[in-house]
Amino acid sequence: MPHESMESNSKRSFLKYLMVFVSGLIGVFSSWGIARFVFSGTRQKVDRTIPTELFKSISSGKPYFIPHAEVWIVKGSNLSNSIALDDRCTHLGCRYKWNDSKGIFECPCHGSEFDIQGHVLRGPASRPLKSLFLAETSEQILRISDHPHN
Ligand code: FES
Repeated sequence: MPHESMESNSKRSFLKYLMVFVSGLIGVFSSWGIARFVFSGTRQKVDRTIPTELFKSISSGKPYFIPHAEVWIVKGSNLSNSIALDDRCTHLGCRYKWNDSKGIFECPCHGSEFDIQGHVLRGPASRPLKSLFLAETSEQILRISDHPHN
């Protein structure tokens, strides 16, 4: 009997250490995820270039989504009066969508609405959508950036 008891204690100890180890791992990975979100956001580096031909093919007056660049293009009569809008809501970062029948951008998470220029129509978002600059880098490529001369 004492032999079984020692074996049982040893199994319990092993399970206890295993649980502590697994809990520690979960804690480390959770902290890393939270720190990554807080300090650097959740986005990976995005390719913010588009072929000039693609831009030329976009109709003006209706937002056009470019998935790889994670932007909505609102094309004007030329490049200088066209805008690119970052595809994340300024409330908590959800991806918003264009509602063609209403003519507005809508965020599915908490109901914020924005006009075609990215201005807030309805909260909880309090800031307009992030507007980016479009610039020609060559005859075939347009760059989308935070600054007008990048
Ligand atoms: S993240 Fe868009 S309304 Fe909250």
